[in-house]
Amino acid sequence: MPPLFDWRFAADPYPAYAWLREHAPVRRTRLPSGVEAWLVTRYADARQALADPRLSKNPHHHGEQSAHGKGKVGIPGERSANLMTHLLNIDPPDHTRLRRLVSKAFTPRRVAAFAPRVRELADGLIDSFAARGEADLIHEYAFPLPIYAICEMLGVPREDQEDFHTWAGMMLHQPGSPRGGVGRAVKRMRGYLAELIHRKRAELAREQGADDLISGLIHASDHGEHLTENEAAAMAFILLFAGFETTVNLIGNGTYALLRHPGQRAVLQRAVAEGDEGLLAGAVEELLRYDGPVEMATWRFATRELTLGGQLVREGEPVLVVLAAADRDPAKFAEPDALDLTRRDNQHLGYGHGIHYCLGAPLARLEGQTALATLLHRLPDLRLAAAPDELRWRGGLIMRGLRSLPVEFTA
Ligand code: HEM
Repeated sequence: MPPLFDWRFAADPYPAYAWLREHAPVRRTRLPSGVEAWLVTRYADARQALADPRLSKNPHHHGEQSAHGKGKVGIPGERSANLMTHLLNIDPPDHTRLRRLVSKAFTPRRVAAFAPRVRELADGLIDSFAARGEADLIHEYAFPLPIYAICEMLGVPREDQEDFHTWAGMMLHQPGSPRGGVGRAVKRMRGYLAELIHRKRAELAREQGADDLISGLIHASDHGEHLTENEAAAMAFILLFAGFETTVNLIGNGTYALLRHPGQRAVLQRAVAEGDEGLLAGAVEELLRYDGPVEMATWRFATRELTLGGQLVREGEPVLVVLAAADRDPAKFAEPDALDLTRRDNQHLGYGHGIHYCLGAPLARLEGQTALATLLHRLPDLRLAAAPDELRWRGGLIMRGLRSLPVEFTA
């Protein structure tokens, strides 16, 4: 079997996933952290597992937890920052209640109204490097765009957005960011958000509230129920956390895939020039399928014994659904290893499936489509400025993306 989890694997995990899909589609595997988990790699099993109510999101169901698994299966720092009650850690009925409340504030209409601002942000970032004729597209484009976008949407004042840029840089170990680990950045973000929510609640009480997402979260009610201040802070945080590195990777992996497939890139470039939004939307879905930002869905734990792809999974055992493997399953997709921006009926699992299906998908689509279209429009002769084997990948367990993407173009 090709090696799992070494540095070559991060650069191209797909041969190892093809082997697993074929020979051991549900396989118990020791992860780099030492935790053992079932890896699920076939499309049909993955889809079943994502929606199976016997697989809980609550880490309390992790059998190893009290022995030695503590702290190894969540967001670093989330325990100490009191962030455990976010959507990706809870099951119904709590999940149903919180998701219903957040959906009242984070609406497709709010996202659609934000479109012109995302375009301005993308244009502004390109303006900052266009005259140079070269850039690192991760550091200067894919990384800042989602962080400024979500900050503005949440209602973080402009003067404080640089702090988020810094904390996000610490989380991704961006060049030039202060050292100090993810845990510290998480705690600072959490502290800031708690304070901001407190301030916005007071403004709303004085009827001076703004029309931003945090005010929407405070205001949202369902049958007379509201989010508590702690729930609102955990929610704002998970919107930032879930919507940040994912979108960085969508823009980074997507641009890289286009630069490696000139024929497909030409198809998209033409569509952008002609304003063919249908093709642009389909292209971004295919880029998500082909080399998506989320390699594995977040943790699940068996609450009782179940059979998955013919394997017995015991109570307390963790399950990781490998979206990147499922989305290249030949049993589901014709020519799965080919990038085909005009692929039809593309039911990829890049945003998950079932009750935890990505809440931010409308915003992710808006950002992905805007970022790629603006880039191809503004820098039509964009080309890679490094050999593919010189590029380094950030191979965390859940996410997969480039550390940097050097490019050249006519200034
Ligand atoms: C959940 C992917 C962007 C917020 C998820 C899940 C996936 C995913 C696979 C399900 C995880 C699981 O079942 O374990 C993506 C991708 C994105 C993206 C590929 C970008 C291309 C965003 C954005 C936001 C966001 C921009 C918000 C601003 C969330 C939230 C959840 C979630 C809150 C948890 C939903 C729940 O548990 O009910 N996302 N996401 N995501 N995503 Fe995204």
